[in-house]
Amino acid sequence: MKGKVAFVSGAGSGIGKATALKLAGLGAHVIVTDINDENGQAVTDKITNSGGQASYYHLDVADRAAVENCFAAIGQKHGPVHFSVNNAGIGGAPAAIHEIKIENWQRMIDINLTGVFHCLQAQIKMMLATQTQGCIVNVSSLAGLNGVPGGGSYVAAKHAVIGLTKTAAKEYAQAGIRVNAVCPGFVETNIIKGVPDNVLDFNNKFLVPMKRLGKPEEIADAIAWLLGDQSSFVTGHSLHLDGGLMA
Ligand SMILES: NC(=O)c1ccc[n+]([C@@H]2O[C@H](COP(=O)([O-])OP(=O)(O)OC[C@H]3O[C@@H](n4cnc5c(N)ncnc54)[C@H](O)[C@@H]3O)[C@@H](O)[C@H]2O)c1
Repeated sequence: MKGKVAFVSGAGSGIGKATALKLAGLGAHVIVTDINDENGQAVTDKITNSGGQASYYHLDVADRAAVENCFAAIGQKHGPVHFSVNNAGIGGAPAAIHEIKIENWQRMIDINLTGVFHCLQAQIKMMLATQTQGCIVNVSSLAGLNGVPGGGSYVAAKHAVIGLTKTAAKEYAQAGIRVNAVCPGFVETNIIKGVPDNVLDFNNKFLVPMKRLGKPEEIADAIAWLLGDQSSFVTGHSLHLDGGLMA
């Protein structure tokens, strides 16, 4: 990835942080973006202090104008983005469908779905305008493949991310742009702090054949593979990263 620019949203912690570090290790200039400036800057400093290349941009993916401005600034300063990881996302308090408050639904859709759309659209526009044969990975979830009681809005957003990924893969294959998704099971990050212990225990004891949570670095490795040349015939795919759960 030497000499190429890689964008990661929500790169201040968890899967996004591990991905930013991985891509920097592969030689990319990583555009670290997050709403949490302290975390985002810390990841950027970690990369540059160890000899890698990174730049930090504050970015709320739900803010359409901010996404457009951010990509304009990135293009001007660093040139076209070759690799993009649309990772930023939130969890949410569990609620059955009849109990979901419309404002909570809207916030979930704004960040976990429309946020991915905003970034995906800006990335594809930039790639088409600069004839860049780029690769994009959207971070979905096992909740993008299955219903999850209490997770209606998260599940709806993550299913939609897979639909968007498949459609983008078909629309831009001829332009040399590959678009894939990853579907992690539970991974050790901040987002699962809101998940009740009994749910995580059940997951580890009975649902996941490997009987453990995933690690952010394991998801980052798979994302790097999907972005790299070794997956050159893969597009529109949703890769399960789940310790065997879906089997
Ligand atoms: N951890 C899991 O078990 C798991 C499983 C499946 C999918 N995922 C998905 O992985 C992605 C990353 O989550 P994580 O587990 O690393 O959690 P995390 O909370 O550690 O990281 C999420 C990051 O996104 C940032 N963020 C939140 N809202 C944002 C916004 N509006 N704009 C920009 N950045 C924003 C946060 O500041 C944070 O740095 C999410 O899309 C999540 O849904 C996580």
